[in-house]
Amino acid sequence: MNNKELYAQQGVAMTCRSFEEYQSMFMLDKATLAKGKILDIAAGASSFTAECIHRGYDAMACDPLYKLNSEQIYEFGQQQLLIASEKLSSKKEAFVWNYYHDIQQHDDIREHSLDKFIESYKNDMDREVYVNAMLPNLPFQDDMFSCVICNHFLFLYQEQFDYSFHLAAIKEMIRVTKKGGIILLYPLVGFKDELYPHLDNLQQELSQMCVNVSIRTTEFRFLPSADGMLAILK
Ligand SMILES: C[S@@+](CC[C@H](N)C(=O)[O-])C[C@H]1O[C@@H](n2cnc3c(N)ncnc32)[C@H](O)[C@@H]1O
Repeated sequence: MNNKELYAQQGVAMTCRSFEEYQSMFMLDKATLAKGKILDIAAGASSFTAECIHRGYDAMACDPLYKLNSEQIYEFGQQQLLIASEKLSSKKEAFVWNYYHDIQQHDDIREHSLDKFIESYKNDMDREVYVNAMLPNLPFQDDMFSCVICNHFLFLYQEQFDYSFHLAAIKEMIRVTKKGGIILLYPLVGFKDELYPHLDNLQQELSQMCVNVSIRTTEFRFLPSADGMLAILK
C-alpha cells in the first residue's frame, strides 16, 4: 500500500451502500427523488434503487456488473464486504466514524443492503430496473432522468481514469438528464483523501454546456476530506 493511501484499492471495487447512506451523502430530500425518473450510475450492489422503488419512487440503476446473475453478484458482494472490512480495520483511525460508529455497524449496514439489492435484482429483473452499462456510454435516450446519481465511482478512481474519461462520462450523464434535472457526484476525493485536481477545469468546461455546476457541502463524513459533491443542474 502506498503510505499516503487511506484505502488500498486496485481495480474498481464493488460496494453495496444503503438508501440511508446515499441520502446522507447527497443530502437527498423527497422533492428531488419524487420529481421524476432516478438513475443510479455505477450502482454496484447498492440497495438505493431497490429502496427507492419500495418508497414509491421511479428508479433504475446501471453498472457493468449487471451482466452477472444474482448468485454471482451475491458471492462477489460477500467477498468484497470481507475485503473492505479488513482494509478498514487496518486503517480505522484514518476515517471519521460519526455515521457508522464502528466497523461492525458499517458491515451490518452493508450486509443488509446487499441482501435488499439481491432480492430486488431477482424480482425486478423483468422490468429492466438493472441495466448492464458502462460509462462513458449509456444506453438511454436523451433527457430521460430527473435525478442522476453516481456514488463512489468517478473521482474516487482518479488514478485509474483520466480527465478525458471523466469529462466524457459527465457529458453522457448530462445528455440523459432532463432539462431542470440534477446530476450529483460524490465524493470529490480519491483514495489518498486528495481533492480531484482537475475540478476547476472540469467546472469551466461543463459550464459551457448550458448547465449550472456547483460544489455542494455534505454533512456526511467518512473519508476526512470528502465533504463536497458536484451538483450539475441542467
Ligand atoms: C465502489 S462501487 C460503487 C457502488 C455503489 N454506487 C455504492 O456506492 O455502493 C463502483 C462501481 O462502479 C462500477 N464500474 C466500474 N467501471 C464502470 C464504468 N466504466 N461505468 C460505470 N460503472 C462502472 C463497478 O462495477 C462498481 O460496481
